[in-house]
Amino acid sequence: MLRTLLSTLSAALAFSAPLVAAQDITSNATSLTGTWSSGSGAVVTGPSFADPMNNDRPFIYPSNTGISYSFTDDGYFEMAQYRFNANASRPDCPTAVVLWQHGTYALHPNNSLTMDPSPFAMDGRVQTQNPCSPTTNVLTEFAQFEVWNSWKIGIDTNHAAYALQAVDVNGKKPRMFLTVRPPTMLPTASLTGIFNGSIPLSP
Ligand SMILES: *[C@@H]1O[C@H](CO)[C@@H](O)[C@H](O)[C@H]1NC(C)=O
Ligand SMILES: *[C@@H]1O[C@H](CO)[C@@H](O)[C@H](O)[C@H]1NC(C)=O
Ligand SMILES: *[C@@H]1O[C@H](CO)[C@@H](O)[C@H](O)[C@H]1NC(C)=O
Ligand SMILES: *[C@@H]1O[C@H](CO)[C@@H](O)[C@H](O)[C@H]1NC(C)=O
Repeated sequence: MLRTLLSTLSAALAFSAPLVAAQDITSNATSLTGTWSSGSGAVVTGPSFADPMNNDRPFIYPSNTGISYSFTDDGYFEMAQYRFNANASRPDCPTAVVLWQHGTYALHPNNSLTMDPSPFAMDGRVQTQNPCSPTTNVLTEFAQFEVWNSWKIGIDTNHAAYALQAVDVNGKKPRMFLTVRPPTMLPTASLTGIFNGSIPLSP
């Protein structure tokens, strides 16, 4: 898939006259639909990252930290994140944080994008692991409304990939690259409802 994208892009770049700047983020080069992943692409939404109804092993830890977002063209999003939080008093004890949620998103005329986990609020999970704390492993539900004040998609010629730059209240988020389209996601439905039998699995 990536290979196909790369060759498509190389072909497009070879035949279009002007050289695209290394980080041309001046317009939406493509649609938001798909799976986007930061850095080396270690964190990707979908079943390779999260198994939220499995309390014993709700996450498959990626090889590296990062963030990932997926969007469908019918209004659903999924988010995955793996990071370390530094501990100033114990520099040898960073806390590992993995989190996952899904829900619906909306695009607004002022170019903001909002993501609302409330339709599936019981599905999201966050797990923290502090190797130096007596309670080393804590798993709780997670549902956090998220706002991107703005976002743009350009072409990054260094990576030969579509690049998504989102800006939230803290400033620029890590740039993410289009990994796969259509997106890799868990079912865009209440997993809690499917799991507890209140929503039928298939028609
Ligand atoms: C953009 O629009 C959204 C949705 O209407 C709103 O919540 C947000 O405050 C607006 N942002 C700005 C900077 O006006
Ligand atoms: C990118 O696309 C979104 C959704 O169509 C639109 O709201 C936004 O204005 C576009 N941004 C730019 C810079 O074209
Ligand atoms: C830092 O580590 C200590 C020892 O494990 C722990 O008690 C404390 O809560 C940690 N602080 C933060 C901010 O995580
Ligand atoms: C089953 O899932 C539904 C949908 O998320 C939820 O509203 C309901 O509270 C759940 N019931 C139980 C017993 O967990």
